[in-house]
Amino acid sequence: MDTINSKRKPAFHIYGGVGWINDPNGLIYYKGRWHAFFQYYPEATHWGPMHWGHVVSDDLINWERLPVALAPGGESGEEGCFSGSAIEFDGRLWLLYTGYTENGGGDDVRQLQYLASSDDGVNFVKHGIVIGEKELPPEYSPCNFRDPRVWKKDGVFYCLVAAKRKGGNGRIIAFRSENLFDWQFVGDLFGEDSKGSMTECPEYNDQLGLLTVCEQFQPAEGKAHLNVHSTRWYTGALDYSTFKFKAENCGIMDYGFDFYAPQSYIDRNITIGWLNMWDRNVPSDKYGFAGMLTFPRRIQVKDGALWQTPAIDGELFHLRETDGTVSDKLVHGAVKIVAEGLESLQLDLRIKGDTRTSFRLDGNEWVFDRSLSGEKVTGVEKDEDSLAGIRRIPYKNLPVHEITVISDEFSVEIFVDGEVASSTVYPEEGADGLELAVKADLCKYAKINM
Ligand code: FRU
Repeated sequence: MDTINSKRKPAFHIYGGVGWINDPNGLIYYKGRWHAFFQYYPEATHWGPMHWGHVVSDDLINWERLPVALAPGGESGEEGCFSGSAIEFDGRLWLLYTGYTENGGGDDVRQLQYLASSDDGVNFVKHGIVIGEKELPPEYSPCNFRDPRVWKKDGVFYCLVAAKRKGGNGRIIAFRSENLFDWQFVGDLFGEDSKGSMTECPEYNDQLGLLTVCEQFQPAEGKAHLNVHSTRWYTGALDYSTFKFKAENCGIMDYGFDFYAPQSYIDRNITIGWLNMWDRNVPSDKYGFAGMLTFPRRIQVKDGALWQTPAIDGELFHLRETDGTVSDKLVHGAVKIVAEGLESLQLDLRIKGDTRTSFRLDGNEWVFDRSLSGEKVTGVEKDEDSLAGIRRIPYKNLPVHEITVISDEFSVEIFVDGEVASSTVYPEEGADGLELAVKADLCKYAKINM
């Protein structure tokens, strides 16, 4: 994975090697290996003309870098290969992605859906536009039409695309096809505008009855949804005759500072998101890279709500009973805490001198605190919590609590009772201390190095 000449780089999270990355794209288990593509700009540590970077893995932990799969230009003429998805059909690997063309800017910008394919999963040929202005009903804007997510049901391909009604906010619209080349518009899932200014990266998981969608500039809801852009989940069902989505429950997919544009492996309930956020500084740029993807997470629907756990084999954790006080070391790895009859919990990690990243139970919420984590990240968020380096996860009153913390260079992801908070942290080198203090009837602890 490492083309970077620095020790300060993620050990097991996907990143770009050099340059900028954002959204995961085209996640697919193809010919026996886990493929992950991502939005990639190799020339600098800021966003630029988008390519699709490509890595592959046997275990979702060790990733091998492959050549860039899609680069802008060539006969199809797009100036950026924006986000999209993958599907296997007739033994080939197909990518459906958004081609961006500037055309002088303003209303002449075009974001249309393009197709590419490969028979070895490494080298791709482009087939040009397959969902263009002709397929897009006139009330939607071709300037904001992106992030196709394809799936197959009963022999038919379906695709969700993020769209915008002219003069309105975001929508999620659906298309159908029998061959991946010819598509027809079939519906607008909610039939009303998103709260945020635009939807991005919509996905429907037919097996789970789960819709996820990102919203740009969505308004905060109390102390939740504070990031400038964030991701919602909806449980419910898509009606394949009307293409309306009937939502049962709705929630926030990640309570941390840095999570956006998640995508799941097609036909497998494993999701990866972008472990960063728009409109912020990225202090790792001094080491030659900006942006990482989250650790893969298993997604389930339990009691009508999304439930997420890290995609690590549980057997790897050799839990041992403790008196609730643990001193350990951790930079690249995971710890698991299981507590029965919990009264209080305070976990500090990445400790060195006064530097630390903290997680604690505070009344009816879990509080994540990166105010002392190291180098500061500043963004456009000006609310009290964001300025204080705080994010909150609602507490679930359960007899047993399970917490898994995934730690890697520049990130901490905390899984607690089915919820997650993912954030970047930039402590100085050698910040490896971990202190846990738990009051509970029973507390078990395990660590694995990765
Ligand atoms: C989401 C997004 C997508 C777009 C891509 C461009 O983060 O804005 O909507 O396809 O990034 O890089």
